Amino acid sequence: GVPRICVTGGAGYIGSHVCKALSARGHVPLTLDNLSTGTRQNVSWGPLAQVDLRDGTAVARTLRAHQITTVLHFAASAYVGESVTDPGKYYDNNVGGMIALLRACGMTGVRQVIFSSSCATYGIPDQCPVTEDSVQRPINPYGRSKLMCEDILTDMAGQYGFGFAMLRYFNVAGADPDGQLRERHTPETHLIPLALMTAAGQRGEMQIFGNDYDTPDGTCIRDYIHVSDLAQGHLQALSYLDQGGAPLAVNLGSGQGYSNLEVLRAVSRATGRPVPTRMMPRRRGDPPVLVADAGLARAILGFAPRRSDLATIVGDAARSFGLERAHAHSS
Ligand code: UFG
Repeated sequence: GVPRICVTGGAGYIGSHVCKALSARGHVPLTLDNLSTGTRQNVSWGPLAQVDLRDGTAVARTLRAHQITTVLHFAASAYVGESVTDPGKYYDNNVGGMIALLRACGMTGVRQVIFSSSCATYGIPDQCPVTEDSVQRPINPYGRSKLMCEDILTDMAGQYGFGFAMLRYFNVAGADPDGQLRERHTPETHLIPLALMTAAGQRGEMQIFGNDYDTPDGTCIRDYIHVSDLAQGHLQALSYLDQGGAPLAVNLGSGQGYSNLEVLRAVSRATGRPVPTRMMPRRRGDPPVLVADAGLARAILGFAPRRSDLATIVGDAARSFGLERAHAHSS
């Protein structure tokens, strides 16, 4: 039958975009979220159960009540900087949440799990673009918590006989092109929303962390993937598992790298406003270049990003902030 889907973290940035994409395919996703960082307004495509993952009894009760067979697991803490100052929070919420969730899945009718992993599990990669078989040597507690979750999922899915996929996201950005959802973090730390807030005059200047890297313009290079493309990748992973696909760990990125200064120029172009910039020392723990080899996702899932060129990502993000330049062409 049609899988009955639970989305943990469905009230957050990525989870809400995935719920919208699931709804467009006829699903009515159950959002399971403690609303610690997510918001109720993001939950529009199915019911919300306000539950903390670490409360395994409540999670099992909820999964059973909704006859859930498939779990997409997004709920986690995701600030690299905070993970360094408060690592216990990351091991408790991310690793503890994962264990409690999987035990609840094992006690109920869940058959498959899709997990939000991260390129942060690679640390400073030996090779670029990064392939899935690159050594995973994370350099901060956030990345380590995600790597631990990958191992825990592999072992516990084996125990319970679940199908599973671990999707390693690169830099997720942009917003729903229909304007129903946007990227919103408190505090905001991500490059594109901060640059948009700066262009809007809500902050004085954009600080760029390091211009002495061994890259063409000296600033770091990242692989930006549009959140709607990322959502499609989840639907493809779901079809893959529904067809009995073997356990999978796969990068979801565009395979294209852009420097921090290129991103700021794209924000200026999309908004028609300057982004005052100040060069700062490097930020601890930033890999100079992080770009996906997205070949496996294309080959196995048919993953084909459509909105992940920088101009479209930044244009959609700008529009979601009410900041598009008059007559701008965003795609
Ligand atoms: N940057 C600045 N100034 C800022 C903010 C960011 O120069 O004010 C730079 C960063 O130093 C980095 C680039 O912009 O070079 C991108 O930084 P982000 O903070 O937007 O994203 P990260 O590349 O740090 O992403 C990492 C991991 C992801 C993880 C995410 C969690 O790569 O896997 O942090 O927030 F999900």
